[in-house]
Amino acid sequence: MSETHQDARGSAEEHHGGVLIVDFGTQYCQLIARRVREMGVYSRITVPDRMGMMLEAMQPQAIILSGGPRSVYEQDAPTLDPAVLERGVPVLGICYGLQWLTQTLGGRVEPASAGGEYGRTEMEVVDPQVLLDGVDLRSTVWMSHGDQVAALPDGFQVLARSEPCPVAAAADTARRIYGLQFHPEVTHSAQGERVLRNFVLRIAGCRDDWHPGNIVDDKVRRVREQVGEAGEVVLGLSGGVDSSVAAVLIHRAIGERLHCVFVDNGLLRKGEREGVEALFRDEYHIDLHVVDARKRFLDELAGVEDPERKRKIIGRVFVDVFREKARELNSAKFLGQGTLYPDVIESVAAHGGATATIKSHHNVGGLPEDLDMELVEPLRDLFKDEVRAIGRELGLPSSLIDRQPFPGPGLAVRCLGAITEERLAPLREADAIVREEVESRGLHQNLWQYFAVSLPVQSVGVMGDQRTYENACVIRVVSSTDAMTADWELLPVDVLRRISNRIINEVRGLNRVCLDISSKPPATIEWE
Ligand code: XMP
Repeated sequence: MSETHQDARGSAEEHHGGVLIVDFGTQYCQLIARRVREMGVYSRITVPDRMGMMLEAMQPQAIILSGGPRSVYEQDAPTLDPAVLERGVPVLGICYGLQWLTQTLGGRVEPASAGGEYGRTEMEVVDPQVLLDGVDLRSTVWMSHGDQVAALPDGFQVLARSEPCPVAAAADTARRIYGLQFHPEVTHSAQGERVLRNFVLRIAGCRDDWHPGNIVDDKVRRVREQVGEAGEVVLGLSGGVDSSVAAVLIHRAIGERLHCVFVDNGLLRKGEREGVEALFRDEYHIDLHVVDARKRFLDELAGVEDPERKRKIIGRVFVDVFREKARELNSAKFLGQGTLYPDVIESVAAHGGATATIKSHHNVGGLPEDLDMELVEPLRDLFKDEVRAIGRELGLPSSLIDRQPFPGPGLAVRCLGAITEERLAPLREADAIVREEVESRGLHQNLWQYFAVSLPVQSVGVMGDQRTYENACVIRVVSSTDAMTADWELLPVDVLRRISNRIINEVRGLNRVCLDISSKPPATIEWE
């Protein structure tokens, strides 16, 4: 993460125990946290400045100090109050974390003689102790360091080394302080998971009670506690995974005192509004208010071609519509949101500065503070894969939990140029055809997104004996793991042929189908 996110509510820790991870500026902090949670152990990330407060609030059973891009001997390099080492809580330093431990406890850190070690290295275990128990005598680990430990502090012993690096792992077992020069959290370290498990479960004895069933029970109890016997909650439901899981969870806690608001902005996909009504109103019996704001959005968007202006307008109108509805439900003093952990993690800005705005994202979560409501955010300490797991636990269908992402501004960013209902209607149909053809063959399981885009370009065609002059559409199919990068994917030719035939024959207003074969970067996934 390149931005520093401030946790608006502070870190009023709700969950005691588990592993506290200190971010010294690594890009891998979230990966460490997720690896720990995959073991069934709760974990949280903090920045060095807030360490004292987090220790008191969370009472962790183990502490992991992350890597980082700096050198410990530089001025202003990230540091911690050494008192953290006196608490009797086991500590594991990774990379910079090991070097910080070394320097703080009286050892010596120097630039690595060969200029550093980057990528896969073979590590040799010299004394496994508990930390490296079960690790092969020789195994592949991932290194990424320019400095190394030249002299360990008193009380430490070397557990492993690599050819260029005399201290690949070390321990002061009496004080339960451990260090790794390699990165156990990345999959390239073949037995990294085992090393982390040894530390978290065996050395620190952490409870592995972080599982979907327990998480649901815990969240339901906390929502009840926060909202009280009579409190009411309003929640903006988009039909996406996060707000849907938040809705069902809060509903389980407080039943009819949850009021969901679904805004139909006229930019939805075919069948979306009906699907939300059928699931949440008819199946879950949630109090659902559907606001038909189609005309209002289209009026505001009339004639607007610039992508950023479109996004801004949609964000603003959404807030207005939501605010009006929330005021109508004025008995509600709480605002439910599907905010996730990666949105609120504070992190050390490794290189400083803000990132350039490529696209201003709009999410249902982005509501203004002047609503003057207390936030209820039961997913606030969960990663996306955990949200999916508890969504399944709550009985939400796979069609919702595993569905492809759909941008907040909806079809507006896939209908290039000025938006009219005359152009949206064919796009909706074309998009539905793409989804049907891909999903009915199970092809979507390996794809990140698959959709249609409408271009404001007309071309000549012929249908029967008639000349047509209609818009072109584009099929966009990509694979990705996190949307930061994406590869274009080629659907089987017979599927493409069928999609093209169906769009041209069934959809009035589109007479030409093109294929987008651009990866991200340099293209983005959406066209606007
Ligand atoms: P781009 O087009 O930037 O998209 O490559 C990356 C991912 O984000 C989705 N996307 C959005 N999601 N609100 C969202 O919630 C938005 O405003 C938005 N814009 C793009 C896009 O579908 C892709 O998965």
